[in-house]
Parts: sequence; structure tokens; C-alpha cells
Amino acid sequence: MTKYISIKEAMKKGSGKVAVRGWVYRERGSNKMKFIVLRDSSDIIQCVVKREEFDKQWGEIDGLKIESSVELEGTIKKDERAPTGYEISVSKINVVQIAEDYPLNKDSTEEALADKRHLALRSRKMTAIMKIRHTVLAAFREYYSKQDYYEFSPPILQPTQCEGGSTLFSVNYYDKKLYLAQTGQLYTEAYIYALEKTFVVSPTFRAEKSNTSRHLSEFWMAEMEATWMRFPELVEDVEKLVKFIIGDVLKKNKSDLEILERDVSKLEPIVKKPFNRMTYTEVLEFLKKEHKMDVKWGKDLRTVEEQKLSQHFDVPTIVTHYPKEVMAFYKPKDPQDSKVAVCLDVIAPEGYCEIIGGSERDLDIEELKKVLSKDGEDLSGYEFYFDTRRYGSVPHCGHGMGVERVVSWICGLDTIKDAIPFPRTMRRFNP
Ligand code: 4AD
Ligand code: MG
Repeated sequence: MTKYISIKEAMKKGSGKVAVRGWVYRERGSNKMKFIVLRDSSDIIQCVVKREEFDKQWGEIDGLKIESSVELEGTIKKDERAPTGYEISVSKINVVQIAEDYPLNKDSTEEALADKRHLALRSRKMTAIMKIRHTVLAAFREYYSKQDYYEFSPPILQPTQCEGGSTLFSVNYYDKKLYLAQTGQLYTEAYIYALEKTFVVSPTFRAEKSNTSRHLSEFWMAEMEATWMRFPELVEDVEKLVKFIIGDVLKKNKSDLEILERDVSKLEPIVKKPFNRMTYTEVLEFLKKEHKMDVKWGKDLRTVEEQKLSQHFDVPTIVTHYPKEVMAFYKPKDPQDSKVAVCLDVIAPEGYCEIIGGSERDLDIEELKKVLSKDGEDLSGYEFYFDTRRYGSVPHCGHGMGVERVVSWICGLDTIKDAIPFPRTMRRFNP
């Protein structure tokens, strides 16, 4: 049986007989020759088929169109003129399927590409992004696994909110109403009392009513939660995590970053230099001084403010101590200054905004109840959560990283929609 190898392996071999298979990425021909640029998951390669050697099969070969699937054998050699520097002179070809006229080309509109997302995902650009996404997810898991964290899987169907009622998706659950998870946090907080150090990689959902380049309705969150951890350690942890992920991508995805024409000199400082750290109050003073922006103390930072801030730094900024009043209910008051919460956001450079949100967790049941009641929440849904404060409560911290936000930033994307295979937004839920 023929042993097929990947295009990348074939190019590594560089000479002699090879057998590869994949899809027609580009094709052109005359009545003497057919040039096929073949693609598989690993790369692309130019292949030449000469009519004189395939007289009987010529009709079929000549009819090969974009995205047709083929298996072929031949001799590989270096060729500077070929798109990836190698060419296969084909001696045997098996046409598996001749594709219909491909509905996408380089002039396709954004809308057309989105409608045919299942096909558009085959592009080199999308393939490169998805490989980087793989590295980001694998690096997150590796970073925590190496420190003896356990992966934990929280439920997706949940009876309560955690990040504010206005972005909840509700689901008919038999004759009841449940919500799609905004985060796994409340459940992870419950289970650290057994596993102690946990991380989660899970889909999360938010009914984001605005159409921005940074918001999805369905996105993946990579979270961690650990007993005994205090805030200064959390700040260290998020910095080390982001450095680890970027370092891994720079090591493993060089050619993918090249395909995306990503300026890697923008990513290199992240690994080498310490991150910038500011409190929320310092950010407000900074924006006032540098941009004459007047943000009223007590308002959460918006996209414009995060973007202006990030312009000044080539590394992420860890902003801490946001106003307690506008923070999620589980973020505790700072004992030194009750107006602010012991929490952080990591703001990526180049205007990619918030990539991570985290905090110490409030252990005071009465305080938790007070904030939830003020927000009009039915406290009975949170009884399980209060139990975690009743039985062996210990200080703990956690954070959540938006996987697509990070991928978007690393790849230098214009829109977060390209950081996930099948994006879901208010307007886009198909295919
Ligand atoms: O800041 P958020 O809302 O934090 C939480 O959900 C915490 N419960 C996490 C935790 O402490 N375990 O969301 C975390 C991250 C944000 O920093 C952002 O990167 C991303 O999730 N995110 C979104 N990404 C894409 N589309 C959206 N609509 C997002 N909303 C948040
Ligand atoms: Mg946040």
C-alpha cells in the first residue's frame, strides 16, 4: 500500500519519490501541462502533471477544479519559482473527487465568506489562525498542569447569573428556565475545596447586544481557581501565563504567523519585558494627563479608554483595584480602601483590550447577599455558593481568559470572529 506523507514532510525530505494527498488549492494549465498547487493541513506544494505521461487520464486531470481531492505520487525537487520552494513532478495521480465550481475566491465579500464559513475555513489564513488557537489552548493547559492543577468541567446549564443578568441566555429546561454559562466560576469555586488547584476550558455565552470586533455571543473561556492564593500571587500568575502562551506560539507557530503577516516584533517584548501595572485610579489620572480624557471615578473602563491606555505600552497592562460598586458581586472590597475591589483586568497592547479578568473572592456571605439583593437576584439560587463559605471557607483567587481575545491579539486580527471556527454573534449564527 502507498505510504502517504504530509506535504511538510515531503518538503523536508526534499528529493526522491514521495506520495501526498490533499486538495487542489490553485490550478492552471495548457494542453500540454497542468500545474496543481496541492494543499493539506501542513502546507501547500506545486505539482506538475505532463499530458504526454497521462494521455488516457488527461480529460479527468484537465477537469480538476479548486478543492477537488486527489492522491498523487511523484518526484520532489527544489524549485525556487514554486510557491513554497519545491515541486513534485507527478508520475501517478488518483482523482478522488472532482469538485463543483467553488463558490469562493479572493474577491468574495465578507458576507459571502461568512455564509460559506464551512468552506472559508479551508483557507491558509484560517488554517494558520486555528493552528495558533490550538497552541494557545494547549499552552494554557500545560502551564497549569505543570503546576499540579487539575482540569475541571463545570456545567453549561446553570440556574443563576455570575457576570450580570443583562447578558444571560435563557434556555427552556423541561418546564423550568435555566441559563447558559457566562462563566464556570461559581462551580469551580465550589470544587476547589476538593481539588484545590483547578483550571477550566469551557464554552461560555453572553447575549452581547452590540456588534463589536471584540464580542462574541459564544466564546471559550480558560479559567483558573486556587485555594490559599492571595491577590499578589494572582497578579504574578496572569503575567507568567500570558508570557508562557506567547512564548509557545512564537516557538511553535512561526510559519503560521508568517502566513498572517504578523509583525512578531510586536509580540517579542511580551516574553522579555515585565508587564505594566497600574491601579484603576492611576489609569484615570494617566488618561487625563495624556489624552485630556475625563472619566468619572466609579465608571468601568470602556473600549476607548482601554485602547488609549494600551497605545503607550508594548506589553500588557495589569489594571487593578476597580471601583467595587461596578464590579461583579464576588469581587471583595479592599480592606485598605472599601471603595475599590481586589481585582484585576489584563489589557493587551495594540488596542486588543481586556483579555483576562480575575480577582480574590469575597468570603463574606452577608456582603455577597447584600450585593446580589441590590441587583434584584433571587438568593435561593445561590445557596450552594454560600455553602462554600459555610464549610471550611479559605481565601482563594481565580481568573478567566477570553481565548478568542488572546488569539485575536496574537494573530493581529481585525475581528474576533476569525478567532473561532464558527462564530456566533447577534447577527451571525449560521452555518
Ligand atoms: O471578565 P469576565 O467577564 O470574567 C469572568 O467571567 C470571570 N468569572 C472569570 C473568572 O474569574 N473565572 O470574562 C473573562 C474574559 C474577559 O477578560 C474577556 O477576555 C473574555 O472573557 N470575554 C469575552 N470574549 C469574547 N466575547 C465576549 N462577549 C466576552 N466577554 C468576556
Ligand atoms: Mg471583565
